[in-house]
Amino acid sequence: MAEKKSRALVLDEFGSPPRIVERPVPARSPGETLVRVRAAAVGHLDLNVIDGRFGILPEPPFVPGTDACGTVIESDVHPEGALVRLRGAGVGLRRDGGWAEYAVVPDKAATATLPDADPAVACSFFSPAGAAWAAVHDVAAIREGERVIVTGAAGAVGSVAVQLAARAGAEVIGVVGRPAKLPHVPAGAKAILARDLSEEALGGRVDALVDTVGGTVLTAALALVRPGGRAALVGYSAGRELTVDLAEWLLADVALLPVNLMTRARDLAEVGERLLAEITAGDLTLNVERYGLDRFEDAIERLRTGAAVGKVALTMD
Ligand SMILES: NC(=O)c1ccc[n+]([C@@H]2O[C@H](COP(=O)([O-])OP(=O)(O)OC[C@H]3O[C@@H](n4cnc5c(N)ncnc54)[C@H](OP(=O)(O)O)[C@@H]3O)[C@@H](O)[C@H]2O)c1
Repeated sequence: MAEKKSRALVLDEFGSPPRIVERPVPARSPGETLVRVRAAAVGHLDLNVIDGRFGILPEPPFVPGTDACGTVIESDVHPEGALVRLRGAGVGLRRDGGWAEYAVVPDKAATATLPDADPAVACSFFSPAGAAWAAVHDVAAIREGERVIVTGAAGAVGSVAVQLAARAGAEVIGVVGRPAKLPHVPAGAKAILARDLSEEALGGRVDALVDTVGGTVLTAALALVRPGGRAALVGYSAGRELTVDLAEWLLADVALLPVNLMTRARDLAEVGERLLAEITAGDLTLNVERYGLDRFEDAIERLRTGAAVGKVALTMD
């Protein structure tokens, strides 16, 4: 019988684009699960990996993809046909990841998920929804009646943060960098362009900030938080440096706090599944742009340039 072939994206060299290869379906060893991948997220972490700019990197050639979702084909621990999320245990970082039609992962990297979940959502939601939850509830600790700025408000983390903050009873100002994103700020927030941010435009300073953008947007938004307020930093796509004048910082009296999903992922596992159920039920919205495996360059470009609205995923169905 002819050997079954499958397609995968393979990176030969950091900084170069991956290429599509046809290869045999990978074989699993004991302790590993073979999955037919249905969708794989294209995330900022993956871009850093393919650019060779992350602290943990696989040896090329390798298949990128740190988050995926698929159906179990063969496993000692997962029932055949179960829908599983693939994440962690070095997937896409220390070993081949999910940008492929078939993936072999350590058993513990596969987690059973809602059978009726959309695979493109199931592989994409955890990072943005988990980070948004941690930022809103644990780090910025937003309370009812507070006024909150969320930057990158049409982005994946930002759009979920807007919804969670509004749900917590806050008045939310959703900031975007480009006019085309204004209509994509979730309902329940006042949408505003970053360049229009000012105390006058907001009607006074706010209690808290959830920043997903960094760079000059963070500098501008931080100045609009009241003394005693909190700022939670999630990401820095627009710039990774912040200059602080210590005298002004003491006077401003605003706590700038990091949101690190990696250290919180275990604690957020349960919340994550709940958020996926809410997205699946339509109670929470997370937009996912979908691209076939052969359109991976478009997917990468949309994410890299910040043009994407929400998450970006490769779909293999
Ligand atoms: N700390 C953590 O544990 C954690 C967890 C998840 C994500 N993150 C990070 O959080 C950030 C947001 O994640 P996300 O999934 O929400 O990303 P996203 O949807 O791609 O980006 C959020 C927003 O950032 C702006 N942006 C993106 N690329 C840009 C660029 N090259 N230059 C300027 N602005 C750019 C865009 O907003 P406008 O078009 O409105 O300007 C975009 O909507 C990313 O940096 C991600 O790595 C961190």
